Amino acid sequence: MTVSRRNFLVRLAATSGYAAATAAMTTLGLGAPAIALAAQPEGPQLAPGSGKGLRVLVLGAGIAGLVSAYELRKAGYEVQVVEARDRVGGRNWTIRNGTRIEYGDGTTQTAEFDPDHYFNAGPARLPSHHQTILGYCREFGVELEAEVNTSRSAYFLPDPAKGGQPVQLRRAINDARGHISELLAKSVNRGALDQELNVDDRARLVEFLKVYGDLTPKAEFKGTERSGYKVFPGSAEQVGERQEPLSLEALLDPDLWTSLIFDELLIFQPTMLQPVGGMDRIPHAFHERLKDVVRLNTEVKAIRNKPNGVDVTVRERASGKEQVLSADFAITTFPLPVLALVDTNFSPEVKAAISGVHYDTASKIAWQSRRFWETDTHIYGGISIVKHETALIWYPSGGFHKATGVLVGCYNIGQAARDFTAKPLAAQFGSSRGVIDRVHPGRGAELQRPVSVAWHKVPYSLGSWVHWATPAEKEYTLLNKPEGRVHFAGEYLSQIGAWQEGAALSAHHAIAAIANRVAAGATVAKRAA
Ligand code: PHE
Repeated sequence: MTVSRRNFLVRLAATSGYAAATAAMTTLGLGAPAIALAAQPEGPQLAPGSGKGLRVLVLGAGIAGLVSAYELRKAGYEVQVVEARDRVGGRNWTIRNGTRIEYGDGTTQTAEFDPDHYFNAGPARLPSHHQTILGYCREFGVELEAEVNTSRSAYFLPDPAKGGQPVQLRRAINDARGHISELLAKSVNRGALDQELNVDDRARLVEFLKVYGDLTPKAEFKGTERSGYKVFPGSAEQVGERQEPLSLEALLDPDLWTSLIFDELLIFQPTMLQPVGGMDRIPHAFHERLKDVVRLNTEVKAIRNKPNGVDVTVRERASGKEQVLSADFAITTFPLPVLALVDTNFSPEVKAAISGVHYDTASKIAWQSRRFWETDTHIYGGISIVKHETALIWYPSGGFHKATGVLVGCYNIGQAARDFTAKPLAAQFGSSRGVIDRVHPGRGAELQRPVSVAWHKVPYSLGSWVHWATPAEKEYTLLNKPEGRVHFAGEYLSQIGAWQEGAALSAHHAIAAIANRVAAGATVAKRAA
């Protein structure tokens, strides 16, 4: 299959540009309805009691599995969840003091954080329009707080190997807007847009650009307070000393552009949210409601479709004891590289899809440190983007002004993450420390107790997500249909891949498909009473 290897964010930026252009046509009184309400998170609407007498095996207790089990049970199905790990959540994994990170190759790390500190190694932010997963938070009373995904006080670091120096985002963003506004105003005033705009609209556009770019009355950009001060205004005679505007040439660095529009991307627009105390508050809330039906530490070895049901061979990890579980239907929520290791009697086409789809990876590093980013540079949450193998520095959104906090010092994806995490851990940590020291001079030495999570090395995950080349890719379409009595679910089978929202919606899709088969009279296995 073809997989886009271009930088994920750049691709997203391009997508959002298209969407923005389309949206611009329909807003501002050009005939669109005033407000398009987002689809309401209604859940899958299975009739209560409709699952009575039917058995479903849910394979995997990540978000897709937990949502499936929870909703099926509400509708009266008899559910059992099989999970190989000793915890629920799947890639929704919050690391705290004492958490062990064990890779398939035997590498083991143990987190040594102070109490109350945590690191969301997988999902770490919830967009406010992801109302399916947020709906479960609401229903279960999972307490949320703002996840500060962007801060104008954070930095962009151009390639440090070429001598790049950190640029504060408030300067980059506002100086870029100022320069571009000035150029556009010049173009208008020189008649370059006379074909496109009538004389009134040309005048209005220039007035708008003065506001938009903070231009002088003559429509020139001479710098802006929006970009901050060298010396901030204070009491009595202490006037503020402005920064010199960055040159347009400096802003024409393509590596910078994603940073300029980062929080314009729909998925990163404020307000983003996070559960107080760690992302795993979400799977734990499901688990509390499913305790009696979740079987942890149990691997799936084989799946056999039968004419009217499905047999699943499971193996208890501690004892090695194997057992065959039978059900009317199964939902498998494993990431595809994990499912590919299970012995099945699926069709050759489905097997080829499962083993052929390329899974991406992602890696993160977390450090415990004194909160120098708050005291030195007034960064409260948000992300500094670095043109470096570690990709970013992500500041904590909770616990402001406490003595210490957990700083994410790397989040890379794709081949960059594979190459990076092929190095010894000490080299990875050294690289992260080094680039943090470039953005926060002298502070690298304060970083302590690092841990790294590389998702392709984590057993029962073996990757992060799929980059479908197109939403209609053959394997995507195939696996969105059941294979015999086995239905597939997971974020990778939604149009919102790599988000918990997609996992929840995919679960809804799978259980609705089962309910439809039952309603249409699917024969179910006869069981001894
Ligand atoms: N949802 C993940 C994140 O927030 C992965 C992702 C990254 C998805 C970037 C889309 C864009 O980091």
